[in-house]
Amino acid sequence: MPEICIGLKRHPDSFAKGAEVGDRLEADICVGRSTMLTLGPQPFVAEFSICPSGVPITLTPAFKNSSGGAAMTTKAHWETVYQTKKVDEVSWYRPHLETSLRLIEHAAPGTDSAVIDVGGGEATLVDDLVALGYADVTVLDISPAAIDVAKGRLGASGASVHWITGDITTVELEAARYHVWHDRAVFHFLTSADDRAAYMRQVARAVRLGGHVIVATFGLGGPEKCSGLDVVRYDAENLHGEFGPKFRLLENVTELHETPWGTPQEFLYCFCRVE
Ligand SMILES: C[S@@+](CC[C@H](N)C(=O)[O-])C[C@H]1O[C@@H](n2cnc3c(N)ncnc32)[C@H](O)[C@@H]1O
Repeated sequence: MPEICIGLKRHPDSFAKGAEVGDRLEADICVGRSTMLTLGPQPFVAEFSICPSGVPITLTPAFKNSSGGAAMTTKAHWETVYQTKKVDEVSWYRPHLETSLRLIEHAAPGTDSAVIDVGGGEATLVDDLVALGYADVTVLDISPAAIDVAKGRLGASGASVHWITGDITTVELEAARYHVWHDRAVFHFLTSADDRAAYMRQVARAVRLGGHVIVATFGLGGPEKCSGLDVVRYDAENLHGEFGPKFRLLENVTELHETPWGTPQEFLYCFCRVE
């Protein structure tokens, strides 16, 4: 990973003395555009190339390393997203996750089924599940900010919801706890084979025999990036292939999601049963 230089426009003195995590800095980026950056946990979080001007400083981003840096960096990325954007200002927003709801209701007609929404973010899926009477819903996300928004929105009606803040590749999940595993637009961020293998170990451990798995990623016609991060796009065969024969494929769904600003994005849902 190359070093990144940025030109500070504000508070260069204080930065020279050492910036704190969470400090906001104004910097010249790329073609001289000015933007606000937020310092995440060390090292610095950035996803774009930056042209030096003003007082150049050097920050070393460490996306993906073997010593836990990846989790910190991923977390800081998503914290920044959720701290700076409103719920409907992100590309993946839709008022209701209709396809997810349909598949979950198909998988778990009984509302006593345990459902986990992996990387649930601020999505309204949990609200809709609670409104339908699901009594054992878990929302897991790497971003505490996103969890806070969802929790705050639900208020007292979310009293029965289990909230977990953690990285799905490393968090400890109870064995055979869930009847339904749902993930919309999280698995596709796992661009390393190691992370995908870790994710699959989690699904295999946490979902009980006879339970169902619903995973939605960008399809081959979808974007190459989401939230500025690289994603892996799948066709139906490759996505199901990641799970292996223990997961019997029940249905594939292709959905054209429209972002809040009207751009179509192809999503692919893989719906399977653990056997
Ligand atoms: C594109 S958003 C999708 C949010 C939600 N599933 C939806 O459909 O509206 C991806 C979500 O996954 C979360 N996330 C990303 N990487 C994660 C990881 N390794 N473990 C847990 N959550 C993660 C992000 O914080 C974010 O909320």
